[in-house]
Amino acid sequence: MEVVILGIESSCDDTSAAVSKNDKILANVTASQDIHAKYGGVVPELASRAHQKHIIPVVDAALKEAGVSLDELDAIAYTQGPGLLGSLLVGSSFAKSLAQALDIPAIPVHHMKAHVLAHFIDTGTDRPPFPFICLTVSGGHTQLLRLDGHDEFHILGETLDDAAGEAFDKAAKYLGLPYPGGPEIDKFAEAGNPRAHTFTKPRVDGYNFSFSGLKTGIVNYIEKNRRHNPDFIAQNMEDLAASIRHTIVDILTEQLVRVAEAENIQHIAIAGGVSANRGLRRTLHSLADEHGWKTYLPPLEYCTDNGAMIAIAGYFEYLADRRGQLSDVARARWKMGVRP
Ligand code: KG4
Ligand code: ZN
Repeated sequence: MEVVILGIESSCDDTSAAVSKNDKILANVTASQDIHAKYGGVVPELASRAHQKHIIPVVDAALKEAGVSLDELDAIAYTQGPGLLGSLLVGSSFAKSLAQALDIPAIPVHHMKAHVLAHFIDTGTDRPPFPFICLTVSGGHTQLLRLDGHDEFHILGETLDDAAGEAFDKAAKYLGLPYPGGPEIDKFAEAGNPRAHTFTKPRVDGYNFSFSGLKTGIVNYIEKNRRHNPDFIAQNMEDLAASIRHTIVDILTEQLVRVAEAENIQHIAIAGGVSANRGLRRTLHSLADEHGWKTYLPPLEYCTDNGAMIAIAGYFEYLADRRGQLSDVARARWKMGVRP
């Protein structure tokens, strides 16, 4: 059986559409929104307007690139949540309307589950076997998950305040770098010394995370140094970026090691926008050597928000005979594992 799915992602500031045939991606087209850079973060109202402008051209381009016509689609999968409500509404109403017009099912998808399920896209590399641990790190979430099946997600730990991506973005903003700051810090960090500056790591119960204290620690440390040297940031950009990245990666991987040991699982994956981070990817490789892990790192195009992960998540829903309804509503907040 061949299942052709159009996947639509619009939860934040990327409008993305992909076409899948079973677990293969035929096209994955994304329009990013540069408009937010000058505001230092995503402006929700501008994001939803930009989604409205981009959604038809992006879907059109994905179908053309895939060589698939609308009447060949078996279903349309879309991000139902979590995310910015105004942004979700654009993708979800577009997907439901088009599915209704074509008389095919619209399949609502959980954005964070889709980040993890991107590992099951056929890219020619090994896919993680169940059970495996996934560290999911994005701009809005930071979670340690145990997966026992394509729809069996168990949250073992999560952030109590800011997400890892948010920590990168806030630190970058403070250093005067544009939004999104994660890739900027990653770039400067490559040329810096990760041990030049020391930031205190939080103490957190269980397998949870906390990043808000780190942000305050970074601000206080830099302010103290700027009192003596107003050019402190400019003169230390690489070392500051490297030290911040090192601290965030340390906080993430310390809990990952603990959880992998407690669960006695050696198959370890990462997912979400921050999984594009070069420091995190390298650290994972060395932890794999140290602990005998087999690690799974998504290709860069499937780390940050993309339609392909929505299409593949929709494919597994389709195989499990789960379809959506016209009455499904966008869900800005949606805890994983809770059915609407
Ligand atoms: O998964 P994603 O595209 O969107 C959400 O679901 O939030 O993640 C976006 C986050 C942003 O915070 C961005 O700064 C971060 O991922 N990010 C990175 C890198 N690339 C993206 N953080 C650190 N290093 C990177 N290379
Ligand atoms: Zn995301």
